Amino acid sequence: MIKEIEIVRPDDWHLHLRDKDLLPFTVNETAKSFARAIIMPNLVPPITRLIDAENYKHRIMKALKPNLSFIPLMTLYLTEETDPEEVKQGYKSGQISAVKLYPAGATTNSQSGVRNYEKIKPVLEIMAEVGCPLCIHGEVTDSNIDIFDREKVFIDTVLDKIRTDNPALKVIMEHITTKEAVDYIFAENENLAATVTTHHLSLNRNDLLSGGIRPHFYCLPVVKREVHRLALLKAAISGSPKFFLGTDSAPHLDHDKESSCGCAGCFTAPNTLEILAHIFEEQKALNKLELFTSISGAKFYGKNINTDKIRIVKKDEPTLFPKKINTPSGEITIFSPNFETKWQVQV
Ligand code: DOR
Ligand code: ZN
Repeated sequence: MIKEIEIVRPDDWHLHLRDKDLLPFTVNETAKSFARAIIMPNLVPPITRLIDAENYKHRIMKALKPNLSFIPLMTLYLTEETDPEEVKQGYKSGQISAVKLYPAGATTNSQSGVRNYEKIKPVLEIMAEVGCPLCIHGEVTDSNIDIFDREKVFIDTVLDKIRTDNPALKVIMEHITTKEAVDYIFAENENLAATVTTHHLSLNRNDLLSGGIRPHFYCLPVVKREVHRLALLKAAISGSPKFFLGTDSAPHLDHDKESSCGCAGCFTAPNTLEILAHIFEEQKALNKLELFTSISGAKFYGKNINTDKIRIVKKDEPTLFPKKINTPSGEITIFSPNFETKWQVQV
């Protein structure tokens, strides 16, 4: 039985670090084991300009402990007012690594997102021209569409058209949750990829809703039936370069999640790799973990592959993680699926 693996240091291709007094906690949890992360721009107010991205990056680096190294890959929040020239300049200079599209109203702080897709055409054209990837929250927001169908309807009515209009545009469908998304991504060309989260690989909708509602399992897109989780799992362990880890680790204060209208997001940064090692081992696919966490994303983004390695060791007893972290603003619960892992990252 394998007791230890060594893999290229992973990257997180979708991460929420938040801001202000949360930064010292979020940044260092990720930097313990990840080399780089694509930083989501859905702050209040959102990161819509290069100067905002520069300032946010500076705050992130200030929060990083001196003994850790970490590279935040910044993104711009796409609005109907985004200037194509600014995107071009930001991508060419390396200030940003991607642009994020939120359909307005789809999720946390998405009010400034896109309503009219005609208005973002010039930006998408320039992004295709310079090779800047587009990260997409792939859900429609129409209240007439059932929340469990919103990803599939987005693919059929929005995503496919964006890609047809801009064949050279590199698109990452973020945090996919359905078999339909997996099938679509496998079927399409190499300009389309997807991130998969730790929590969507761990949970189905029974975990969220059966026997009581579990606010710390609530995220967007919402977790789906088991058949969909199994499709995600198959994609993640397939070794296909089109599927890679984006944790979507999205901390919210406990009092905001455990409320009558709880926020969406799972805080998975502290134990993602331990959980993934367990899941991949169960699938007899530990040899595919490195591709998923450390290789395929870097290749899709056109970045170098990290040169250092991390070790993940299997112990005889389940690994114990803290239940929460304490921040000056309040407690944040660390994601804890309905299974244990004996794996532990060696830091
Ligand atoms: O669960 C989620 N939380 N999904 C998102 O798309 C956004 C994120 C957040 O920022 O809280
Ligand atoms: Zn996210």
